[in-house]
Amino acid sequence: MKVLVAEPIDKTGLDILKEAGHEVELAYNSTEKELLDKIKNASGLIVRSGTSVTKTLIEAASDLIIVGRAGVGIDNIDLNAASENGVIVVNAPEGNIHAAAEHTIAMTFAIARKIPQAHISLNEGKWEKKNFIGIELDGKTAGIVGLGRVGQEVAKRFLSLGMNIVAFDPYISQDRADQLGISLADLPTCIEKADVLTIHTPLTPETKDLIGSEELKKLKDGYLINCARGGIVNETALAQAASDGIIAGAAIDVFSEEPVSSDNPLLGLQNVIVTPHLGASTETAQENVSLDVANQIIAALNGNPVENSLNSPSIDEATFSKIHPYIGLMETAGNLATQLLEQPINSIELTYSGEIASLDTNLVTASTIKGVFTSLEWRINSVNAFRVAQERGVRIQENKHPNVDGFQSLVSVTLLSDEKSICIEGTIFANEDPRIVSIDGFRVDAVPSGHMLISRNIDRPGVIGFIGTTLGEHNINIGAMFNSRENIGGGALTVYSIDDPLPEDAQKKLISDDRITDIYPISLNK
Ligand code: NAD
Ligand code: MLT
Repeated sequence: MKVLVAEPIDKTGLDILKEAGHEVELAYNSTEKELLDKIKNASGLIVRSGTSVTKTLIEAASDLIIVGRAGVGIDNIDLNAASENGVIVVNAPEGNIHAAAEHTIAMTFAIARKIPQAHISLNEGKWEKKNFIGIELDGKTAGIVGLGRVGQEVAKRFLSLGMNIVAFDPYISQDRADQLGISLADLPTCIEKADVLTIHTPLTPETKDLIGSEELKKLKDGYLINCARGGIVNETALAQAASDGIIAGAAIDVFSEEPVSSDNPLLGLQNVIVTPHLGASTETAQENVSLDVANQIIAALNGNPVENSLNSPSIDEATFSKIHPYIGLMETAGNLATQLLEQPINSIELTYSGEIASLDTNLVTASTIKGVFTSLEWRINSVNAFRVAQERGVRIQENKHPNVDGFQSLVSVTLLSDEKSICIEGTIFANEDPRIVSIDGFRVDAVPSGHMLISRNIDRPGVIGFIGTTLGEHNINIGAMFNSRENIGGGALTVYSIDDPLPEDAQKKLISDDRITDIYPISLNK
């Protein structure tokens, strides 16, 4: 499959994609129009922060399965558009956190001791010791806004430098803060207490312009560090506060527009130092994120779970290996149930009994929904399955029972319409194909695949013979058959595995027989 790489990533990731048999197309520095063309037959896309993965780009990519972000921030990716189109989005959230934290510390020292300014001055032949008096970090207070992965790593390093820490993060627990030895505060308090205020939140509508002129006044005489995302700190307000001497200085790695234009107000100020988004620019971090994202792309293209999905149910390897057979079984069962219901669906009920009840079954449920809607929806998959159901007003209910008689695990899907319901139960026996073990209360033993015929009839002599003869007349071979009845002379249900689809005239002939109440030609993915 083709993986389009829109921005440079470390070679290690590209190599493993190629080793896995994928075609890797490098599309560095492509224009938007060129990218729209190149994405058409790509199954995977890799970006860093410089490519806008827009709705238009995603909709142009009819084969696209996964977008991999080689890094953390996904503010350049339209996650909603990806989800609507069933495209998985993953990032590499762990690989560059140490690099980002170390860059934050480096920037703090650099601005606190005026290192870049001193470097420039000395290179100009000056010896201006008096101009470069700095501050010590020991005993000072660092205010951390956003105590996530990078924020916590920064906190550990500041603590080791003898600093006190106060943090603002409405989504972190007091317990976690206590473990780290950090006190939590609201944003104004955090800023007021800080000698150094460092930002580590994502850029979201909530955090855009989080730090403006009012907040910078509260930081009075302090330093502002931003190695998170441009736009969280208002650049005009920051440039003004730095020029007016309201704050002592700022160290900025990220900008609202990247690459920065020459008229960016933060450029050229004596007390603002800048780096061109270097937070993750270490060899180790680049190798880490490249490998991480490439491995996830390989997994997704093989139909396996991904570790850091931002829009589909994620699952660990151990659980996945246990639920894996049920994913396929329930997709098929969902599809079979839809073909038997033949009516608009109001709700889907799933029951997990036995061992499987103790596992994370989210992916199995998503896969069942996919099966139910397969013939109705374009590109439905586990990413958008719940959303598709919700948009159609279809209620999803999951039940779990730890005990079940006769099976290690039993799974069932029930579809309900206004007028009727249909329930399919299935299981997995060790080293055997997935089985359907009941349809609408009739015990059966059927391997669901390919073409099938399900008949509902009255249990009378000659019915099965009549069906067999009719199929024979249409040159249709029966591969397997399972008959189930309520009682002698009562209702019966028979499942036939057939080698070819049932032609319409054969169906008409079968249904015209008084003894046969329903005939369902079924077609499932092999
Ligand atoms: P993370 O998701 O682990 O942590 C973000 C934290 O911000 C979370 O704890 C969250 O609760 C908190 N948060 C969210 N909204 C908030 C709000 N309104 N107010 C306060 N806190 C809020 O992310 P991370 O991996 O720690 O990355 C942090 C930032 O650093 C991201 O913006 C990421 O893109 C950026 N980053 C930059 C570089 C670089 O090269 N400069 C490298 C890595 C990460
Ligand atoms: C990130 O979000 O991971 C960083 O901004 C690093 C990057 O992509 O360069």
